[in-house]
Amino acid sequence: MMRAIGSGLLALGIALCIAWPEPVQSHGSLTTTVLFDREIVRILNQRCVMCHMEKGLSFPLETYEQTWLQGRAMRASVLRRHMPPWPAVAGYGEFLNDNHLTVRESQFLVSWVEGLGPRNGGRVFLNVIDPKTAATKEIRATPHTDHWQLGEPDLLRPLQPIAIDAKAGDTTTKVVVDLGLAAARQVRALEFMPGDRRVVRAATFSLESTGQWLGSWTPWHGFVSLPEGVAYRLPARSRVVVDVHLRGATEQTIDRSTLGVFFATAPDTRAATDLVVDKPVRLTRETRVWAIQPENVAGLSALEVSARRPDGGTDVLLALTEPPAEWPTPYLLKTPRLLSRGTEVFAVARSSTAQSRQVRVRLSRY
Ligand code: HEC
Repeated sequence: MMRAIGSGLLALGIALCIAWPEPVQSHGSLTTTVLFDREIVRILNQRCVMCHMEKGLSFPLETYEQTWLQGRAMRASVLRRHMPPWPAVAGYGEFLNDNHLTVRESQFLVSWVEGLGPRNGGRVFLNVIDPKTAATKEIRATPHTDHWQLGEPDLLRPLQPIAIDAKAGDTTTKVVVDLGLAAARQVRALEFMPGDRRVVRAATFSLESTGQWLGSWTPWHGFVSLPEGVAYRLPARSRVVVDVHLRGATEQTIDRSTLGVFFATAPDTRAATDLVVDKPVRLTRETRVWAIQPENVAGLSALEVSARRPDGGTDVLLALTEPPAEWPTPYLLKTPRLLSRGTEVFAVARSSTAQSRQVRVRLSRY
């Protein structure tokens, strides 16, 4: 009996020795277990580095040193929900291109900054690598921006180069692209490759003849891929209007972006069309909505897109608070939303002056 307790205690002692952290030897008190090399680099990779990189839209957050120096600003920006940009209210719909930090991710960032920003072993902070625990290779966030995410497009159309003046403010430029289609084609996806990532904030593609929304590019989601078995029907000689949203540059530059188009091969696809909601619209047939594209959110403090079912109940499809005009984005539904015939779809917007305002929202549906 005594033997058993004795060996039990011994085992506990060994376990404690293994699990107990080594004494802290840094110059400050370490109050976090969150490490740059482990948790922070993952968040930067998923949520920040596509904009915060060398030759990117904003200052780089790739290395430990770069990130450490921005710690306080990051904490403030994340708590204010200014970064990363994503105005959709959680709980109303799930989106493929959702870019918000989860509660856990923002807690990690805040805790890391407040705990003096340790790098790896948990025993160091500032710019010191713990030789015992450091990986042989420096851990850093890496942008993956130099390849087509959906594979090589069937059709590549370079945009006419856009000259950007030094010290120009934010602007939007329209570029028309002739797809060179000799016959009607079905399109299942579009992707965009910005020429100069320092200046391109976003791009929106639409069909010139009808204004139908075809897709968008944002730094965090570079393509639009239609649901399985669904395609756009593009007539012969279609031209696509690309609205390129540009950030003011500090030096003169020329952007050379490229539009990539992917064709559907199956003969029996369903056609995706736009439902334009600028006043309440009653559906005359059963419809599946897979993308929501508010057209102009400048000056809005809130926007809600809802569906009133024939039985009287209302479902909110999308709710935005303070959508930033400088980050136009569509909302790509994870699962297309089935709306039955007779449903009324409407959008309600409030401007910063608290008045309700008419807006135009395009729902892509089939
Ligand atoms: C879509 C691009 C984009 C993403 C994603 C993004 N940022 Fe930014 N960030 C910017 C731009 C551009 C600025 C410059 C200010 C502006 O234009 O709003 C900025 C500014 C900042 C600033 C300066 C203070 C401020 O709030 O303006 C901090 C700090 C920051 N970002 C941290 C982050 C962190 C941390 C992440 C990831 C969790 C992140 N950003 C994700 C584009 C982005």
